[in-house]
Amino acid sequence: MTNASKTLLPATHGPKGTSEISFGKQLISPTMLLAAWIPLIAVTAFHYATSHEQHHVHDILRRLYYLPIVVGALQMGIRGGILCAFMVTVAYFPHAFFLPHHFDPAAGIEKVLEITIYFLVGTIAGYLSDKEKKHRRQLEQSLHTQETLKAQLVRAGRLSALGQTVAGIAHEIKNPLHSLLGTTEVVDQVIPEDCEERRLWEIHISEIERLKTISERFLSFARPTPIQLQELDLRDVAQRVNELYGAQARQNNIQLESRLPNTAVKARGDKDQLAQIGINIFLNAQKAIGNAGGTIRISVGKENRNNCDMAFLSIENTGPEVDTTHIEELFDPFYSGTDSTGLGLSISSRIAQQHDGFIDVQNKGLGVAFTVYIHAL
Ligand SMILES: Nc1ncnc2c1ncn2[C@@H]1O[C@H](COP(=O)(O)OP(=O)(O)OP(=O)(O)O)[C@@H](O)[C@H]1O
Ligand SMILES: [Mg+2]
Repeated sequence: MTNASKTLLPATHGPKGTSEISFGKQLISPTMLLAAWIPLIAVTAFHYATSHEQHHVHDILRRLYYLPIVVGALQMGIRGGILCAFMVTVAYFPHAFFLPHHFDPAAGIEKVLEITIYFLVGTIAGYLSDKEKKHRRQLEQSLHTQETLKAQLVRAGRLSALGQTVAGIAHEIKNPLHSLLGTTEVVDQVIPEDCEERRLWEIHISEIERLKTISERFLSFARPTPIQLQELDLRDVAQRVNELYGAQARQNNIQLESRLPNTAVKARGDKDQLAQIGINIFLNAQKAIGNAGGTIRISVGKENRNNCDMAFLSIENTGPEVDTTHIEELFDPFYSGTDSTGLGLSISSRIAQQHDGFIDVQNKGLGVAFTVYIHAL
């Protein structure tokens, strides 16, 4: 379905362990072949070939059977230990009890005891190995969580420092910008419509407007508005995005598809801020489609993610797939594949996190799909 996915939730899966290799594959692994099955065959062959007069050699060979049992237990846990004890018994049993001319010189009771101990050793060693593996997996898991948290802390620290700098700059820009906007309104009235310089003057105004938008974006990144949670229907959020930017998209040769269910998709959230996420993603989709034309699909629904009932708002667009190697960076502040500020997704992911939700990116559907998930009601 996808080759690119980013969720802004702590990772729920730790590093992969050996337990994920199937039992069958472990049975024929190189370690098992070299340290268990070949020694088992070799010991059995020697055992059957050794004359019954050589008591000591038989004693040693019987004890060498512990090697495959212990290896099996260490490699595959309790099941492996018992299986290897069973295989050893199958190999040793005829020699011990049925072959009179190659018989094992030890007493019958001793042989029965030995076979019992094979199983005991296989079981105990396997049990201990399973326990140790479980412990190691837990350690790996906590190490993984610790590393994730460390990375998040470093990122949070970086963002906070960045936020303070940006807030300072945006604040310094705001006052002169207000003066500029004030003066343009006055000057605009005295420059005649048919004047040759009018075109330059319009560029001047649009650049000031652009600066205003950028500084507002910087401020909303640096000083996030606290969210106000209330019961809402996610379909309303989708409709707001549609109403605000649908006409503009259609003008740019983009077809809009809405997939809204007939019943309400209830969740707790901040309508304005969720609409902000929707707008950021929608504008990105529009930019990704470019001038060639394409389709944007907005859908809303409910889905079970990580065992939680989540409500989602998804915006898919035709156009190039997102680069999987840069998927983490898309959410970094000031990362932009275009000449924009690169703050849209960073702000959006923070809003999603404030809702205890996350944003998922996948190369699927029409091409690329950005989906925001929040807890459903
Ligand atoms: N639908 C998409 N398809 C392909 N690339 C995307 C899509 N959405 C985002 N991106 C990539 O992610 C980058 C970061 O997006 P983000 O919204 O954070 O910043 P921006 O759009 O460049 O600037 P801003 O949103 O601040 O105006 C984009 O520049 C683009 O390269
Ligand atoms: Mg953007």
